[in-house]
Amino acid sequence: MQTITSIRLLRNALSPLRNAGRSIGLVPTMGYLHEGHARLVSTAREQNDVVVVSIFVNPLQFGPNEDFAQYPRDLHHDEQMLTALGCDFIFAPSVNEMYPEPAVTVVDLPEMGQVLCGRTRPIHFRGVATVVSKLLHIVQPDKAYFGQKDGQQLAIILRMVQDLNLPLAIVGVPTVRESDGLAKSSRNIFLSVQDRPHATVLYRALQVARDDIEAGQRFAAEVMAHMAALISAEPTVRLDYAEAVDARTLQPLSVLSGTVMLAVAAYVGKTRLIDNIVLPLPPIDSPDIP
Ligand code: PAJ
Repeated sequence: MQTITSIRLLRNALSPLRNAGRSIGLVPTMGYLHEGHARLVSTAREQNDVVVVSIFVNPLQFGPNEDFAQYPRDLHHDEQMLTALGCDFIFAPSVNEMYPEPAVTVVDLPEMGQVLCGRTRPIHFRGVATVVSKLLHIVQPDKAYFGQKDGQQLAIILRMVQDLNLPLAIVGVPTVRESDGLAKSSRNIFLSVQDRPHATVLYRALQVARDDIEAGQRFAAEVMAHMAALISAEPTVRLDYAEAVDARTLQPLSVLSGTVMLAVAAYVGKTRLIDNIVLPLPPIDSPDIP
């Protein structure tokens, strides 16, 4: 495995492999890797001849009051983990390598980027779409891997690739969880020992909502209110949102049908956590509806 920090050197390393017909899989990350990232890398390893993992904490996706400087970093640990997973190249550019000048060109999907997490993080998804677009142009992979854990991000990347006719397949990978259901996240290390047990309320609320829907509930407002009530009742937890949206467009639904994403976000102590599940429901006019 090789760690490369320069765009030119990465392109030089990859182009003979691409020209020889080797398939390339890219896993974009911000590092501080855990088992969630590992699942993406091992899926990429199974499906491609060459696996590239990018590690770049992208300043463009952090708001002025967000944790860019505090975001955890540990390249040495990441290198050990990626060697064990059979990664071929780590691409770990500096901020100056990726943005030698401030980005004047950006990729923005306002309809999808301003909802859910976009309401508290208004510039976040423009930063994500822009850096992912840059990474896709640099690496030119056949496939790129994203976690369902960040469901809004995955939906936005899928739409960007469709709208811009980018020549690759996006692969969504299921969320990896702790044994008590908490979705694995680099930010979980910020949870205090006191707050950690309360963090499970996000997944518990999603499961209760799924039970409601399985029992026949189809009114989004009822499902959202139930999730919000559970999360708000949890000590040290402050609700940001609890919503039911169309999983592809991220637009709100009043009656639940088709592919539905239940998405929640909350502050647990000072740490903002997100989670979601996707439910394939019958179309509204289907006779299956109870
Ligand atoms: P990061 O938070 O490092 O996540 C990298 C990838 O790992 C994302 O696709 C994310 O959805 C996935 N991931 C994180 N936790 C996961 C879990 N518990 N189960 C499954 N997948 C998980 O997301 C980003 O970085 C950035 O926004 C990025 C796409 C790299 C652009 O800067």
